[in-house]
Amino acid sequence: MARTARTPVPPRSSSIAAAVTCLLLVVSRDAITSAAASPKAPASTGGCIAAERDALLSFKAGITSDPKKRLSSWLGENCCQWSGVRCSNRTGHVIILNLSNTILQYDDPHYYKFPNVDFQLYGYISSSLVSLRQLKRLDLSGNILGESMPEFLGSLQSLTHLNLACMGFYGRVPHQLGNLSNLQFLDITSGIYDYPPMHAADISWLAHLPSLKYLDMSYVNLSSVVDWVRPVNMLSRLEVLRLTGCWIMSSSSTGLTNLTSIETLDLSENTLFGTVIPNWVWSMKTVKMLNLASCQLSGSFPDGLGNLTLLEGLNLGGNSFKGALPSTLNNTCNLRVLYLYGNLISVEIKDLMDKLPMCTWNKLEELDLSYNDITGNLDWLGSQTSLTSLYLSWNKFSGHLPLLIRAMTNLTTLILDNNNISGVISNQHLSGLESLEIIIMSYNPLKVVLDESWSPPFGLIDVYFASCQLGPEFPVWIKSLNNCYSIDVSSSGIKDELPNWFWNLVSDVANVNISHNQIRGKLPDSFQGMSTEKLILASNQLTGRLPSLPENLYYLDISRNLLSGPLPFNFGGANLDTLILFSNHINGSIPQSLCKMHNLRALDLADNFLVGELPHCLPTELKPSTGGSFIHSTSLNIHILLLSKNQLSGEFPMLLQSCQSITILDLAWNKYSGKLPEWIGEKLPSIVILRIRSNKFSGHIPGGFTKLDHLRYLDIANNSFSGTIPQSLPCLKGMINEPENLETVFLFGVALENGFGAFDVFGLFHYSISFVLQGQQLEYSKGLVYLVGLDFSSNKLSGHIPKEIGSLVELVNLNLSWNQLAGNIPDQIGELHQLTSLDLSYNQFSGEIPSSLSNLTFLSYLNLSYNNLSGRIPRGHQLDTLNADDPSLMYIGNPGLCGYPLAKNCPENGTSQGQTVKSHHDGSFCAGLSVGFVIGVWMVLASLLFKKSWRFSYFHHFDRQYDRLNVFLTVTSAIYLQKATRFKDGRS
Ligand SMILES: *[C@@H]1O[C@H](CO)[C@@H](O)[C@H](O)[C@H]1NC(C)=O
Ligand SMILES: *[C@@H]1O[C@H](CO)[C@@H](O)[C@H](O)[C@H]1NC(C)=O
Repeated sequence: MARTARTPVPPRSSSIAAAVTCLLLVVSRDAITSAAASPKAPASTGGCIAAERDALLSFKAGITSDPKKRLSSWLGENCCQWSGVRCSNRTGHVIILNLSNTILQYDDPHYYKFPNVDFQLYGYISSSLVSLRQLKRLDLSGNILGESMPEFLGSLQSLTHLNLACMGFYGRVPHQLGNLSNLQFLDITSGIYDYPPMHAADISWLAHLPSLKYLDMSYVNLSSVVDWVRPVNMLSRLEVLRLTGCWIMSSSSTGLTNLTSIETLDLSENTLFGTVIPNWVWSMKTVKMLNLASCQLSGSFPDGLGNLTLLEGLNLGGNSFKGALPSTLNNTCNLRVLYLYGNLISVEIKDLMDKLPMCTWNKLEELDLSYNDITGNLDWLGSQTSLTSLYLSWNKFSGHLPLLIRAMTNLTTLILDNNNISGVISNQHLSGLESLEIIIMSYNPLKVVLDESWSPPFGLIDVYFASCQLGPEFPVWIKSLNNCYSIDVSSSGIKDELPNWFWNLVSDVANVNISHNQIRGKLPDSFQGMSTEKLILASNQLTGRLPSLPENLYYLDISRNLLSGPLPFNFGGANLDTLILFSNHINGSIPQSLCKMHNLRALDLADNFLVGELPHCLPTELKPSTGGSFIHSTSLNIHILLLSKNQLSGEFPMLLQSCQSITILDLAWNKYSGKLPEWIGEKLPSIVILRIRSNKFSGHIPGGFTKLDHLRYLDIANNSFSGTIPQSLPCLKGMINEPENLETVFLFGVALENGFGAFDVFGLFHYSISFVLQGQQLEYSKGLVYLVGLDFSSNKLSGHIPKEIGSLVELVNLNLSWNQLAGNIPDQIGELHQLTSLDLSYNQFSGEIPSSLSNLTFLSYLNLSYNNLSGRIPRGHQLDTLNADDPSLMYIGNPGLCGYPLAKNCPENGTSQGQTVKSHHDGSFCAGLSVGFVIGVWMVLASLLFKKSWRFSYFHHFDRQYDRLNVFLTVTSAIYLQKATRFKDGRS
């Protein structure tokens, strides 16, 4: 509870911030909180004009949801005293309406703002606002008030400040904003998590705002604006320009030469420059903050940087720059913040530091070189005593942590994870670091020997020593970290009993990770009073029963331990997002109280001793979805449900009808029986992976399956399904198309990628699933999204393979073995060019093997044994390389087959099929879908990424982490995709 009351860390770059925030109406979370708790509007001497009060009341009537009662003071006569409202002392007119709900994450040159989800107002903006004729400042940022930005705002002619950032608007930016000729400040930052961005094809209206000093249109899609430079260049008084992520591609050669007052230029996350920054940028000599992060720039760092002598902050992160800084920086003496993270810098650190101008040596405050290939040691640390934040993670630094680090008394943030720093960290190293707030040393071959006499700095927030050596005894110094926010000592070689003070300690710490040790001990009988939000105890030897979960808990992972007994009757955990308990000895059934866990997104109870059915949730237990979201209907919010390897029974769970957001469902290895319901096709519209193998399901495969057009993996093997394979297979669009959205794929991939330490702080759900592929069970986590498969093996299916199967061109795995399928193997199988594994063994297929199989160049497993196939075995390409040990095993048990690799020779005039294959891509009878996959998956991940972490992310650390993600998203997505392609191409 002390946690939530923590005062935000003041911005580092306060002087710059001041220059900017004098124009900003950003209200800190504390201000919002206090406004909500004890509304105190500034007193007004002038009372309130009745017509304006009515206008405000109409506005209030448009607010349909105000969970934190922010408008509770909007009662009574004197509207000038309502919270967020201010009137003019002189005229009594309302001049300010400030209901800002954004959190400013980080200062220049990193700059992020996000809605404060807890305090959001929902509803719409009443047009009554236009009666506030004298309104000068309007700030509704971070609230969800309607779908598109209202045009009537263009009538508020007195406005000087308009902040409509992060409001979830989509659609066109109204050109009526151009009527606000007095505007000095305009922020319409778009594109918050589950909303598509706004767009504009024409921004010439900007030229009508000559007084504009601050313009932020970040994440507004400007890709169809022909020339963005010309209208922006009319804004000659502009001091701050932010066009982050605006999809601006082209750039006219003229440049922003007219902006003679510009101090902050943020064009990050665009590809507007090709790979080289144009020269006009270097003529903008007034620029103090330059952010060109993630602009796909490459080559060496440009010499022109040296022209910007007033530069205080420079962010060139997330590009592909190589080599050291240019030698032209001699006169850049004000540089305080330098971010070069996420480039391809592979020089020695000394060569890099040498290029920093001498005159900045006692000024440099923040240095971020993370995610490069920089080599060398850290012996230079002692001379950079002005540094407050140092980010060097994911490089190739080696050597010991020098004792000189003690001299860095200003250091608040030290992030060195994922290097090769060795030796010992002792009390002596850390004793001088009195300002330290964040220390992240994870994934270095370091030994941490801190004794009890180490008293951590008062402000210490985050301590990460994952995969450093701390054990075998449980380190006692952890006991004194009770003021921390995050502690991570996972994989640190601790082989000990959990000390009895541990539960007391963690109850005050928000994030605790002690996973992957050999820690013994028993869970407490109750988690009551625990304010922990994220608790990871996975892969230890903990025993006991899971107690009811406390209110604050958001993420709990106790997988791979020795928990026993049933789940708590009353789950609790109203805020729980992720619960991971796989591989324990938990028994009993899944309690009814699951229905009340409305925020649960991921539930993994696999590999336990659970019995019985899933609860049948009553409609009254389910929560109606909140407004503004794309998912309508009452439902549980579960996206990932993993229940495999238990003894659950009954029919396909009815509960799933209320889980329309589900993307991954795994019920394999249980005792489910009965038919699959037809509603599967209707009620699970977002499902991507569905696995029910090794149960006792029977009956036909419902045609409804093929309505699941995001389905990419369907495994119903080892059941008792009978009847035929549905002909509507081409409706499985998820198996035909590449996933629709590259970013989605990427995010999905990242979320499923294991061991990405940097993402841990987000509570990203690390999911791996085993698939039976190529005849053996493989653990897939990386690249899971590319695994497309149908496994119908070991059932009682009859009839033939529909030739439509040829349209499922993304299929990687097709297993129809151990059924009663007959007829020919359709030629169209040869069109499944991605196929790696094809198993048709133990059926009654007859006729010849289609020669088209030799087209399958990725094929690495083929089994056609034990059928009635006849004729000559086709040859060529990949077919000749398969199963090198004994290729005949692929064809054994087909007495009619002849030719290589069987010993039986074919008669001289044996036929071979060579006809070309016409495919049948008939999707006309496929049903459409209302909920998009992009939205669905993006919801899972985006909310994991943003929602929770933002809630507590006053700290730079989280922003940094976000930024890292951003680096990956915008730049290394290319690298990731390459990797993924490699996975695809070289599956082996
Ligand atoms: C208006 O009145 C308030 C309260 O009396 C005072 O704090 C504020 O400075 C005044 N504003 C102006 C512009 O005079
Ligand atoms: C520069 O700005 C002024 C006034 O804002 C405008 O009239 C002029 O056309 C602009 N010049 C260019 C080259 O865009």
